[in-house]
Amino acid sequence: MPKSPLNDQPAMQGNGFYNKNSELQKAGIDQFIPTWRDLVETIKFTTNDAVIADYASSQGKNSLSPINIAIRSILSRNPKINSISVIHTDLPSNDFSSLFETIEKNNNSYLSDQSRIFPSAVGRSYFDPILPPNSVDIGWNSWSLQWMSASPTNIDDHIFIDCTEITNLKNSFSNQLAIDWTQFLRCRSKELKLGGKLMTIFIASRSHTSGWGPFWNEFWLTLLELRSFDLLSDTELALISLPIGVRSVEDIKNPFDKNNIFANLKLERLDIIDAPDPFWDEYQTTRDPMTYGLRWANMAKAVAGPMISKVLSNTQNSRCALNEIFTRFADRLSSHPFKVNHSLACVVVEKVNYDPELDL
Ligand SMILES: C[S@@+](CC[C@H](N)C(=O)[O-])C[C@H]1O[C@@H](n2cnc3c(N)ncnc32)[C@H](O)[C@@H]1O
Repeated sequence: MPKSPLNDQPAMQGNGFYNKNSELQKAGIDQFIPTWRDLVETIKFTTNDAVIADYASSQGKNSLSPINIAIRSILSRNPKINSISVIHTDLPSNDFSSLFETIEKNNNSYLSDQSRIFPSAVGRSYFDPILPPNSVDIGWNSWSLQWMSASPTNIDDHIFIDCTEITNLKNSFSNQLAIDWTQFLRCRSKELKLGGKLMTIFIASRSHTSGWGPFWNEFWLTLLELRSFDLLSDTELALISLPIGVRSVEDIKNPFDKNNIFANLKLERLDIIDAPDPFWDEYQTTRDPMTYGLRWANMAKAVAGPMISKVLSNTQNSRCALNEIFTRFADRLSSHPFKVNHSLACVVVEKVNYDPELDL
């Protein structure tokens, strides 16, 4: 089967669609807000110009709360601060217009009651150094590190790696995830100031499962149904593959040595939690399966829609529209609502000592 060119992986569904359909991600983030508060309270500022980096901001809505918390902490502890730069980063294909609109207009924006705050954005992959060396005080990153820098190959027999029967594929994905993790940490280490800290939240697995298998399996069954009506081809089924993978606790800890240090980053905290399913919780109250199905399908469209659109347009499919796929998916989910049991990891690292060799 053809290999998909995922080096130019598309970002989330545009026109603000991700912002409107990312309650699941917000619910996960909310679980780690106490950890984030602890982190920002412990940063010591050596200059009067602070820098907060928001890696993989997407359209920005879910970043507002953590950035607000960081700004309030900085201002209350450092009244003499001249400026706080907030730098949002994402892939070049990200919907940056929605990001800037969110920062300007959202009622919860960190700009609303503050001066001395200077937002900006960078459209580059974070698997390279993308900010000046030793410039970042606080780094935030949520729900992105499961996306790999490149997909080792398509998943011919499913959409999601956890569900494939092909063992070699699982190994290739694991290898790529390990490479990406160390590369991400090395790049952030260069960018952080000494004493600066980064928190990252991403999908994780416990006992060899992330919990996402049953959910994406329903999506796979939707695709098979479309195949049976000849609305999708075998090639399209093979190409529609999520370039995401799941790390275990061991995978996350692996680069860190006995002293818990890797690339001058000290592993300060590692937590894995059972993450919330806000759509299931809502369904418990409303007993409205249609809304349940729609919310989950929209979440899936927000994250996987652009990748699928790309496959459909590359194969010049005129028989199957993106909306048809997600309408059928919503219907399928509505017919038998279930709780998606999934896990999230939260990692906090601190840059502990500067080694110029890292710059070589
Ligand atoms: C699910 S969204 C998360 C957005 C937001 N942080 C949140 O928690 O809701 C994942 C984001 O990661 C971005 N992303 C994926 N790979 C990336 C990379 N290599 N460099 C920068 N951003 C990346 C995607 O474009 C997307 O905007």
